[in-house]
Amino acid sequence: MEKAKSKLNIIICGAPGCGKGTQSDLLLQKYRLIHLSTGDILRNEIEAKTDNGIIAEKLISKGEFVPDSMIVKILSKRIVEKPATCNGIILDGFPRTLSQAEALEALMTSLGKKTTILIDLVVEKEELISRLVKRGETSGRSDDNLETIKKRLEVYEIKTAPVSDFYKKLNKYAPINGMGTVEEIFSRITDVIDSIESNEVNLNEKVNACC
Ligand code: C5P
Ligand code: MG
Repeated sequence: MEKAKSKLNIIICGAPGCGKGTQSDLLLQKYRLIHLSTGDILRNEIEAKTDNGIIAEKLISKGEFVPDSMIVKILSKRIVEKPATCNGIILDGFPRTLSQAEALEALMTSLGKKTTILIDLVVEKEELISRLVKRGETSGRSDDNLETIKKRLEVYEIKTAPVSDFYKKLNKYAPINGMGTVEEIFSRITDVIDSIESNEVNLNEKVNACC
């Protein structure tokens, strides 16, 4: 009998402008995953003028993070409520701090699930700035301006670097060269995911079949 295919719970991480959203869109089509983008979720909360949105609005436009407790609560609800039929999830923009990473792993364990891998898109700083400034010409995002971009990159270095170390220790860390064309980067990411998928022993260690 064919073995049930294991679920893919992928974290896509990297500095602002590294291409998380772009690559997530391609990944969710290829592997039929659900996309949980914290940035998009927060921007929707702002648009809907919810209590969380009102708090998030000021922080996002300054390039700061929203409180861990808020984002953990929002994300946990989405992870718990996602349809059981999906092949897994892509977490884009979460976890952003060590405390969020610890909360995510505790949640997954309590649900009998596991994160598969953290894909870290590594892009040179000058390239990040130029991509974000260009995006700011059309995105309408309050944080895609030079001053806030610099702040976001600083906050990222300080708060998000420990997340990589956390997943390195769990042996679930995959740095990917995020320079090049969208197709080149996508192919590097899928090589990593497919190598996990094709390695049965490794896969069963890394991914829990009950998602
Ligand atoms: O992921 P993205 O770059 O779209 O996030 C935009 C902004 O949303 C971040 O700069 C930050 O202000 C906020 N955010 C946050 N906590 C997260 C994810 C995003 O505060 N976990
Ligand atoms: Mg994004």
